[in-house]
Amino acid sequence: MKISKTVNHENKLKKANDYIKENGVNVQATNSRLKMHFMTPLGWMNDPNGLVFYQGEYHLFFQFYPYDVEWGPMHWGHAKSHDGIKWEYLPIALAPSEEYDYSNIERGHGCFSGSAISVENKLVVMYTGNVDGRTPRQTQNIAFSEDGRSFTKYSNNPVIDAFPVEATEDFRDPKIWKKDELYYAVIGTKKDGKGKAAIYSSPNLKDWDYRGIAAESNGKQGDMWECPDLFTLNQQDILIISPMYGTKNSNPYYLLGDFDYETCRFEQSEFFTLDYGKDFYAPQTFTDDKNRRIMIGWMNMWFTEMPEKKDGWAGAMTIARELTFKNNKLYQSPIAELNDYRVDSEYMENIQVNSESNFNISLANASDILLIVDIENSKAESFDIFVKCSEDMKEKTNLHFDLKQMNITVDREFFGQGDTDDSIAPLSVNNGKLFIRLILDTNALELFINEGEYTLTSRIYPKNRDELFIIKSEELLQVERLENHSLKMEG
Ligand code: FRU
Repeated sequence: MKISKTVNHENKLKKANDYIKENGVNVQATNSRLKMHFMTPLGWMNDPNGLVFYQGEYHLFFQFYPYDVEWGPMHWGHAKSHDGIKWEYLPIALAPSEEYDYSNIERGHGCFSGSAISVENKLVVMYTGNVDGRTPRQTQNIAFSEDGRSFTKYSNNPVIDAFPVEATEDFRDPKIWKKDELYYAVIGTKKDGKGKAAIYSSPNLKDWDYRGIAAESNGKQGDMWECPDLFTLNQQDILIISPMYGTKNSNPYYLLGDFDYETCRFEQSEFFTLDYGKDFYAPQTFTDDKNRRIMIGWMNMWFTEMPEKKDGWAGAMTIARELTFKNNKLYQSPIAELNDYRVDSEYMENIQVNSESNFNISLANASDILLIVDIENSKAESFDIFVKCSEDMKEKTNLHFDLKQMNITVDREFFGQGDTDDSIAPLSVNNGKLFIRLILDTNALELFINEGEYTLTSRIYPKNRDELFIIKSEELLQVERLENHSLKMEG
């Protein structure tokens, strides 16, 4: 019985890996591919899973359906990296194959999201097995790897086979960590119209005790909590949530609070939006050998158009972001290793923009732009940056900075193709200066305001290739410094 199970898994993996080998190359040659961001090799990808630093390398697993550009029975795709920026695809780690993660129902099963931990040279992953129609539908399971490449599902799965009375059958996305002698898992769930985070603990990752509901929605924080992530940063306990409101997924946020390891209660004090963009969901964090807390998010959102589907792929990840906690907030910025991919740099100082003189340059396909606006010495009450603009200006993404309301609107109305809805984020100024960093890629924009106090991630899909970058202001805008770095991945 044990052997036939393994054979089953092996067969499913082989089928999927062969399919990728045969079909991936064509997809990877299409124009819509990003230059600097991690993407699915082909087919569909959603959440990052199992982020871990293991034996000197970064590992990224992901929710993956290779056979179609729509969501389907979830596999765990796998990639590794020496620096957290440049990723190498590895064979698929998990495929649906057992009665707790596989069924004959066409799309209603799979290896759902979860996390990883490195234990004495082994890599252990914990994930949700989903089988529609099974009771319970969602269970928690583990798999082991000796080499960080091939994974064996535990023969006594599921390790958590029932949801607690405070939860319901939506019970998924275990995030594991270790504290002192125990392992902990936080699992997303819902009941009575409230999203909730359940806590379990275990001495060995195989036997789990239910420890209670750590936190739940205050009534405004969604009725289902997906992909919870609980960690401590600079002595602050932080809980990240990807919320659902009815059937709609919405911007993840983070709760600040106190987590008590005795009672396993997380007392929330405040909460903030984690990213204001239209394409950011299901982020996960981990720590590396430099003890940095790093986060990667899915750079898409459920039920959006995703024009790259016509090229045979759908799904990308944000650049890995280092998290820091200061001024009572989470700050996010691309990990420093991104700078190693700057190939051409241009530095400009004291640029004055007004109705007579717009600022106008052409960028590389992927670039890292830093802009410091001297607000105190400017007269403008608002200004615009147009990115991925065409020569005739008919196609553009408009970043409108309102310095009175102190917010920025990313307007995608004229940006080419795909969903056109706006996003809006707060602005803040530090010593009279507005710091803006933009990571631009083929069809992505990651915006970091005030060194990552606020971030906004959106996909933008220009049809033109002109890559014009324009700053426009009616009244005087004093740009103290502008750095334009082209980004390039070798090989
Ligand atoms: C979040 C999510 C998870 C689930 C996975 C399924 O985007 O819905 O809750 O495990 O995606 O692919």
